[in-house]
Amino acid sequence: MAPSLTPASAPSHRTAGVWSAPGRVNLIGEHTDYNGGLALPIALPQRTTATVRPRTDGVLHVTSTARRDETVVVALDEISPTAPGGWAAYVAGVFWALRKAGYAVPAADVHIASAVPVGAGLSSSAALECAVAAALSDLAGLDLLADDTGRARLADLCRVAENEIAGAPTGGMDQSAAMLCRPGHALRLDCRSGETTHIPFDLAAHGLTLLVIDTKAHHALVDGQYAARRHTCEASARTLGVDTLREVTPADLPAALDRLGEPVAQARVRHVVTEIARVDAFVDALRGADFTTAGLLMSASHASLRDDYEVSCAELDLAAATALREGALGARMTGGGFGGCCIALVERDRADAVGAAVVSAFRERGWRDPTPFTVTAARGAGRER
Ligand code: GLA
Repeated sequence: MAPSLTPASAPSHRTAGVWSAPGRVNLIGEHTDYNGGLALPIALPQRTTATVRPRTDGVLHVTSTARRDETVVVALDEISPTAPGGWAAYVAGVFWALRKAGYAVPAADVHIASAVPVGAGLSSSAALECAVAAALSDLAGLDLLADDTGRARLADLCRVAENEIAGAPTGGMDQSAAMLCRPGHALRLDCRSGETTHIPFDLAAHGLTLLVIDTKAHHALVDGQYAARRHTCEASARTLGVDTLREVTPADLPAALDRLGEPVAQARVRHVVTEIARVDAFVDALRGADFTTAGLLMSASHASLRDDYEVSCAELDLAAATALREGALGARMTGGGFGGCCIALVERDRADAVGAAVVSAFRERGWRDPTPFTVTAARGAGRER
């Protein structure tokens, strides 16, 4: 499908190109990134592409295959939290963040096409940001895609774009996943030190697969629930006299909960501290090919997100419970919550049956059909052509 690029200024055909970045699922370590904690995402095979052609007039033009009638136009100097607004803010925000960081990036015609479902909690917004950031790194000769240090820098600028221009107060996990993940590996992210480690993740070699179930339930990060959780964590850290909840170890937890006193804050902190501990337990289980333990840790993560962090919902709970009933080794919601996707660790031969059972369970309740699909760990952002 030919993108509708009709630049008014003379384009540079030599430097135009196509870049892409993936969606993600997080295996474990949820709502830990903004607490300086650990997370373990993989990149999905589903990607967002950005066809980018530099312009010389300082004006950004953004189009998308999803919105054929619309061209969003904004001067680079006028990008702000209210301009251009809407979905194009994720594109414009990346230009803004790179320029604010001192990089001389050109204006451009940007055409977006995405195979990452929007609103499914698979980080379509980070895929969009990171595809654009990859393009700008190459077009401006920044060479930030060459190694993990440069990629982490771009990921952080994409997070800044999302926080400051798109107005979503997210941590950096999604952008790090889209920028840094490698095929066949999960990315262990230490959000306190910034350290990233590539952990082999090849379920097929063990007769297993990862089933993703898109519940189709609503997922909206820009609403107040995410910000409220984040606020409670930050206020609790202040009460406990630490920079972030990462400083609270499982051994410290009983005393920390006593000190907090208030039940909601206690529950939120209990989730964060136990979830951070589950990430390295999960990494150890992967390294030891102990998938029974890995599955139990996923299910424990779901229970903690449901009961203590209160970010699950009926659809996610039913998907996870049904997958377990059908023999999954573990199942949990993934991403910010309040809808979106559930992931289940299943024997490869059982994947279809588990998916079908979840669809039937949803039909019995008169809910919209969920979409189950299996995934492998794919690559991060890069140039396509
Ligand atoms: C969303 C945010 C991430 C992270 C997750 C929860 O995906 O964008 O930064 O906080 O929720 O783990």
